[in-house]
Amino acid sequence: MALPELLRDRLALPVVGAPMFIVSNPALVIAQCTNGIVGSFPSLNARPPEQLEVWIRQIREACEAHAAAHPQAKVAPFAVNLIVNKANSRLEHDLEVVIANRVPIVITSLSAPDEIVPRIHAYGGIVLHDVISARHARRALRSGVDGLILVCAGAGGHAGSLSPFALVSEVRAFYDGLLLLSGAMSNGQGVLAAQAMGADLAYIGTRFIPTFESNAADAYKAMIVDATAADIIYTPLFSGVNGNYLKPSIAAAGLDPDNLPQPEPGGGYRKRDDRPAAWKSVWGAGHGVGTITAVESTAEVIARLRDEYTAARRALALAG
Ligand SMILES: Cc1cc2nc3c(=O)[nH]c(=O)nc-3n(C[C@H](O)[C@H](O)[C@H](O)COP(=O)(O)O)c2cc1C
Repeated sequence: MALPELLRDRLALPVVGAPMFIVSNPALVIAQCTNGIVGSFPSLNARPPEQLEVWIRQIREACEAHAAAHPQAKVAPFAVNLIVNKANSRLEHDLEVVIANRVPIVITSLSAPDEIVPRIHAYGGIVLHDVISARHARRALRSGVDGLILVCAGAGGHAGSLSPFALVSEVRAFYDGLLLLSGAMSNGQGVLAAQAMGADLAYIGTRFIPTFESNAADAYKAMIVDATAADIIYTPLFSGVNGNYLKPSIAAAGLDPDNLPQPEPGGGYRKRDDRPAAWKSVWGAGHGVGTITAVESTAEVIARLRDEYTAARRALALAG
């Protein structure tokens, strides 16, 4: 479909840098936006809550300054991710900050954003909601969202289990609006494949963890550089929700990743205290780790994604 006005002619590559708990920070988001892809961060990364407004202003000012200094450059809009559930005691505060600062794109996760959408639309922002099934996609559309993010098998962090081939086709059968696809894309060929399947934009997280700008610990970045898809395990054990994690980080936390305790019904450990901290000591990453071979700048990563994407398009055109 045609991209919403907000995104038209603003992207150097059809990619959104996905929000990642602890990992995403203003430096990463600014580097993503000024290199022509949407950058985003979970509002919960800005701590204490008063930092959220500081981060938003910092990102906006840096992007505006870059656009003024480089009038020909494509500078993408940024997004803030809100976790919509009762456990998020910051939701109303963070939503008010987002509205007061007219954040262009809001990415909502977990519950359908019924009450959020009209408040974002009131100032001209758009809402993208992430889902793991066609049922959740239909539910989100009833909230009036402007786009769906399909979080498919192999995605880093909390992920779905469906093949992107299956879920994109199922959702496209009833939805012709803005569609983003997530899960294990680490190169430009993957971005083109997402479009070939029927998505408009690729939604990429793990690829940006081992960048100079990201807030991930150095050992976490190095672990991703060393890992292949066989080092990723999908389990609800650490957060109560199914997600993909790096096995070596589980081993470093003192557990055998190949013989993990059985999760309780409903997922997770029986006693919260027994649980190594998901995200802090047990690190999330998707199946796309295998093609990541160095810690680099975000600009270098995006330049390579662009080159690969262009080469893949050319190769397909020649083959056709
Ligand atoms: C370490 C990590 C933390 C994440 N935290 C969040 C989050 O706070 N909110 C969210 O909506 N998605 C979160 N995600 C999911 C990403 O936004 C995205 O769906 C995923 O990274 C895409 O798959 P990929 O990592 O294979 O590219 C996280 C992913 C990772 C790897």
